Amino acid sequence: MPDKNRLRRAVLTGTGTYLPEKIVTNADMALQVDTSDDWITERTGIKQRHFAAPHETAAFMGAEAGRRALEAAGMAPEQLGAIIVGTSTPDQAFPSTAVHVQAALGATNAYGFDIAAACSGFIFGLSVADAMIRSGQVESVLVIGSEVYSRILNFADRGTCVLFGDGAGAVLLQARDVEKDGAGLLSTHLHSDGRLAEILYVDGAVGQPDKPGHLVMNGREVFRHAVTLLSGAVNEALAANSLTAADIDWLVPHQANKRIIDGVGKKLGLPPERVVVTVDKHANTSAASIPLALAAAVADGRIKPGQIVLLEALGGGLTWGSALLRL
Ligand code: UT7
Repeated sequence: MPDKNRLRRAVLTGTGTYLPEKIVTNADMALQVDTSDDWITERTGIKQRHFAAPHETAAFMGAEAGRRALEAAGMAPEQLGAIIVGTSTPDQAFPSTAVHVQAALGATNAYGFDIAAACSGFIFGLSVADAMIRSGQVESVLVIGSEVYSRILNFADRGTCVLFGDGAGAVLLQARDVEKDGAGLLSTHLHSDGRLAEILYVDGAVGQPDKPGHLVMNGREVFRHAVTLLSGAVNEALAANSLTAADIDWLVPHQANKRIIDGVGKKLGLPPERVVVTVDKHANTSAASIPLALAAAVADGRIKPGQIVLLEALGGGLTWGSALLRL
């Protein structure tokens, strides 16, 4: 007889990151673009970003971050069940970034695929991985966000090129039978609204003739929607778990803009000491931003086993969502 008090959940057992070696400060950006450290700092909280070298592709960085997450969990690559990579900047249209990661890791028994949900890609990936684990299809999933936005930035547009950076973050989720109040992913909530596609997009793709594409954004419009939609997704997560903001140990938000992060934290009534911020060091790394921030706070001991962590993201689509987990 199965024990009714125990549940099969996706439990986070390891995190890993990779950041390109090259750091570009706001002062460095001001040498190429008509901008200043003051403007970037005041409007966004960004102080620097990492830009990838040619060999540092989404697959390369994703594999490095994934390797570190597996090592942190003590899992051999052959034991891995699946790999999901959230990316808008894949090495190729196909095969997926995830199968390149699989080959690099030697994860011979895994299957892999990519998720295209822009900056929400990691949350969407977590949600799919959670369903795969809960259904009993797999025992473990490596969920990675890996991005090289420096390759799609328009350096003639100062309104966007100063905002983004490159990097990768990964988490390993493993199936565990736990008590109801035990560890694991508690819920995910996903949304999209394609009517807002024109406020944040890439104006090209491999499917279009001679148009690899650059990122285009109406920053004010994205900003206008961000705090409202993110607060909605966060409240959905709390309501679904009969929790209040007081129960949340850490908010790990998508790192796009410190003003948006502060706005959501304020609406929730969370003090800044319980919000993880890395946008100053990494800028906006799209799907990589949450796993990079989460891994940083796990590695430095801020986020501890047993704590409740709320994740939220919003990006091109628009897509947005939240995930709630207990470490
Ligand atoms: O991850 C995906 C989600 N994306 C986001 O969450 C981004 C959301 N949006 C934002 O974060 C903000 O809208 C930005 C940071 C992009 C822009 O901040 P803003 O306060 O909305 O500035 P703005 O676009 O209204 O521009 C204000 C001024 C303009 O000058 P005028 O027209 O007032 O003379 C811009 O030309 O700032 C100027 N400006 C700059 N000045 C120096 C724009 N970019 C720059 C720059 N350096 N890099």
